[in-house]
Amino acid sequence: MDTTEEDDDIKDLLEVIYAKWGYDFRGYSAASMKRRLYYFVRQKGTPSMKELPHYIVRDKALFSRFIEEITTNVTEMFRDPGFYRSVRANVINHLYSYPHLKVWHAGCATGEEAYSMNIILEEEKLKDRSMMYATDINRLVLSKAKKGIYPVQCLREYEKNYIDSGGSHDLSLYYCKAYDHFIMNNNLMNNIVFTEHDLATDYVFGEMQMVMCRNVLIYFNRDLQNKVFKLFHESLDLGGFLCLGAKETLDFYEGRDHFKVVDDAYKIYQLVK
Ligand SMILES: C[S@@+](CC[C@H](N)C(=O)[O-])C[C@H]1O[C@@H](n2cnc3c(N)ncnc32)[C@H](O)[C@@H]1O
Repeated sequence: MDTTEEDDDIKDLLEVIYAKWGYDFRGYSAASMKRRLYYFVRQKGTPSMKELPHYIVRDKALFSRFIEEITTNVTEMFRDPGFYRSVRANVINHLYSYPHLKVWHAGCATGEEAYSMNIILEEEKLKDRSMMYATDINRLVLSKAKKGIYPVQCLREYEKNYIDSGGSHDLSLYYCKAYDHFIMNNNLMNNIVFTEHDLATDYVFGEMQMVMCRNVLIYFNRDLQNKVFKLFHESLDLGGFLCLGAKETLDFYEGRDHFKVVDDAYKIYQLVK
């Protein structure tokens, strides 16, 4: 396929960023990268696409803004409730055999997904033996995730999601309201480590019984997806679960044969050999 001058500009920019800052966006899918980059440069005070490489290598604050804008951080509690129903039905039973559980949420955004899983672990009496690592490339969303404070306007939807996911209590058991926000209970925070991790360049998190990575790999091209699947493969304990959600698949991964399909609709796999 012919590349346009715009494509070349973007390629140059991503090379410059990798060389200077060590963040590797070269394997992100071209169409969504282009869309977000043009959105970024249209903002007030941002250099044009042509000038951007020159400024971005000199200005750390501009580069931080770039990361914040270039990543899509949309998320919600019990997002895609059927997925959590499947986790409750197909994964939880296997987890009782472990004395200690380690769960990795890769691309956790503002943390709602990690808190949702922690609620399930609490309800299944597994939380006390669990440690959760919730990671993202974007520092700003991680700082929000650590606070666990969200707008009350979201509650109606989250409560519905929770019930649809198989929740049998009232979601209000897990948070306190404060004016126009709600804050997750302390006991849902004390076993979660929120930390920076770049799936494109950083190393494995070892011996996980569960790796959850949903709505992240859709932004990566096939090569980068495969690199990340290898990372997850190496991070999983034998018998551990890889939970990708409805939009992603392991089908093209060379190590695919090591995994058994647990739920084909929600792309939940178990590492079996
Ligand atoms: C759409 S959100 C998904 C949030 C959550 N997993 C969910 O499904 O609701 C995608 C997240 O992936 C993160 N992300 C993008 N590239 C990443 C990378 N290379 N390493 C780690 N996280 C990344 C973004 O910052 C963003 O917070």
